[in-house]
Amino acid sequence: MASKKINFCFVIFFLCYGMLIPTLGNICLPKEHAALFVFGDSLFDVGNNNYINTTSDYQVNYPPYGETFFKYPTGRVSDGRVVPDFIAEYAKLPLTQPYLFPGSQEYINGINFASAAAGALVETNQGRVIDLKTQLNYFKNVKKVLRQRLGDEETTTLLAKAVYLINIGNNDYFAENSSLYTHEKYVSMVVGNLTDVIKGIYEMGGRKFGILNQLSLGCFPAIKAFVNGSKSGSCIEEFSALAEVHNTKLSVELKNLTKKIKGFKYSYFDFYHLSFEVIRNPSKFGLKEAGVACCGSGPYRGYFSCGGKREVKDYDLCDNPSEYLFFDAIHATESANRIISQFMWSGNQSITGPYNIKTLFEE
Ligand SMILES: *[C@@H]1O[C@H](CO)[C@@H](O)[C@H](O)[C@H]1NC(C)=O
Ligand SMILES: *[C@@H]1O[C@H](CO)[C@@H](O)[C@H](O)[C@H]1NC(C)=O
Ligand SMILES: *[C@@H]1O[C@H](CO)[C@@H](O)[C@H](O)[C@H]1NC(C)=O
Ligand SMILES: *[C@@H]1O[C@H](CO)[C@@H](O)[C@H](O)[C@H]1NC(C)=O
Ligand SMILES: *[C@@H]1O[C@H](CO)[C@@H](O)[C@H](O)[C@H]1NC(C)=O
Ligand SMILES: *[C@@H]1O[C@H](CO)[C@@H](O)[C@H](O)[C@H]1NC(C)=O
Repeated sequence: MASKKINFCFVIFFLCYGMLIPTLGNICLPKEHAALFVFGDSLFDVGNNNYINTTSDYQVNYPPYGETFFKYPTGRVSDGRVVPDFIAEYAKLPLTQPYLFPGSQEYINGINFASAAAGALVETNQGRVIDLKTQLNYFKNVKKVLRQRLGDEETTTLLAKAVYLINIGNNDYFAENSSLYTHEKYVSMVVGNLTDVIKGIYEMGGRKFGILNQLSLGCFPAIKAFVNGSKSGSCIEEFSALAEVHNTKLSVELKNLTKKIKGFKYSYFDFYHLSFEVIRNPSKFGLKEAGVACCGSGPYRGYFSCGGKREVKDYDLCDNPSEYLFFDAIHATESANRIISQFMWSGNQSITGPYNIKTLFEE
């Protein structure tokens, strides 16, 4: 009897899962199956902002975005793939789909809720983006659908084995009103809201988290162009201080969570130090240009004009984005996203710990 059941599951698995047909009854997932759920901002967005009521300041559904890999603008804020695309590939999963993509969705491989320009605080670009709390609410909907399709037991297993990637904070520190607060107060609000969402995912059954710390915005072409007088290659120091306060607070909170909530495992990725290393020594990572953006205008091509759909219409585009760290004034090229993803996936304790993403998938 037992072996018959396994065979049946096996057949159903290939019929339903292999061919991506939505199922009616219970399906059996392979023992090692681990899904990927993605939350955050433009580093992770794979097109959700295409489907919200927003403006071209927050959307990139026009060329030259997407030109190298997909050959059309997908909504990813890059010339090609973004970090979750590479992580999915390394985990042998299909590319993660944007949650808001119209039509019926398969969730057994996970789904992507990230929204370019979103923050941990609801006030950050409010009404123009999907803030982190709304992303958590979407995840609650996904769990409901999974329970209907898979039943309670399989859903619990799927959510516990899944890896949850979160990158958020940049846009909160860009936000106009951030200066109304002391660094300490503002950081504690941002990290407090991020921690609440981690706890929310945990309460829904999530156990394995990949969290990136805050890099220094002071090295972005957009910031260097905005602050007058910065020499090429140098970063604006005051942004590093804010990132450092954020990162200290975040790592303390994650350690506390490990003590407080059972079965919680995480990978804390030191994006801050990696970004400085790449900026200081791009050739070590196979890049040629880490100070000037590939696409944009003004000093360092730091005006956010790539594609010509925003306030500034003129822009320059480099010949070979794969040599650049920044595609536009703020966002990474596919080459840079691959570098980030490789370190997240299999980096050692000096850059990611206590786990890396690979070991989280294997746990
Ligand atoms: C979209 O946003 C604009 C500007 O905020 C608003 O005027 C418009 O009514 C919104 N459209 C929908 C369908 O919500
Ligand atoms: C920024 O602060 C001002 C003054 O307190 C307030 O009126 C406004 O609503 C705030 N804007 C955002 C986006 O939080
Ligand atoms: C979350 O952010 C709001 C502002 O959007 C703030 O009032 C609240 O205190 C924050 N929560 C935590 C736990 O820090
Ligand atoms: C910015 O730099 C330019 C050229 O160095 C100079 O002419 C201009 O006055 C500066 N503006 C400010 C606000 O410092
Ligand atoms: C985290 O743990 C440290 C050390 O035990 C403690 O001082 C701090 O108050 C804790 N923070 C929170 C938010 O629980
Ligand atoms: C960790 O990896 C970096 C480069 O990826 C390497 O330079 C460093 O020596 C490694 N550290 C350990 C302890 O293996």
